[in-house]
Amino acid sequence: METIFLTGFMGAGKSTIARELGRRLSMTVFDTDELVEQFCQKSIPAIFAEEGEAAFRRHESSILRSVAKAGVIVSTGGGIVLDETNRRFMREHGIVIYLHVDPNMAIRRLKNDRSRPLLKNRETAHVFRLMASRLPFYLEADYIVDTTMKSVDTVVDEMIGFLVRHERFWA
Ligand code: S3P
Repeated sequence: METIFLTGFMGAGKSTIARELGRRLSMTVFDTDELVEQFCQKSIPAIFAEEGEAAFRRHESSILRSVAKAGVIVSTGGGIVLDETNRRFMREHGIVIYLHVDPNMAIRRLKNDRSRPLLKNRETAHVFRLMASRLPFYLEADYIVDTTMKSVDTVVDEMIGFLVRHERFWA
């Protein structure tokens, strides 16, 4: 089985959906944010504050390469697609599924969250701009699911429906 990479904006539900997809398909799940935190022994806000965003991106890119093994689901941080080499790496090493979320819904889901340095500014215009600047990169995925108004089960059903028809999934 191929590696499955889940991409998408903050608040799309990547981690929750990855866990449920992993349970349903009996596949191991890795989360790049969690692994970066374990590797650095500090939280993402602390990495951003002490080392800067560029250092976080370097850690994230090397973790991505270390976890991409056959039969594994990788839930990625929302900004992983900013790096062209990360996008190419995911395309060449697995199946990329983009979980879309409407930016208004992302703001709603994350309104009490304090763990995302890039969402310190919660103004709608800022979040829309961030999403718009990334959308072309997210849309390079092999498959797109809109999570905005759907339950985790519905999203996972759609993903499995796509995967079982995808010849590379069984390779
Ligand atoms: C980021 C998203 C976060 C985390 C970091 C940066 C981004 O992950 O990697 O705060 O640039 O969109 P989630 O997408 O899991 O929230």
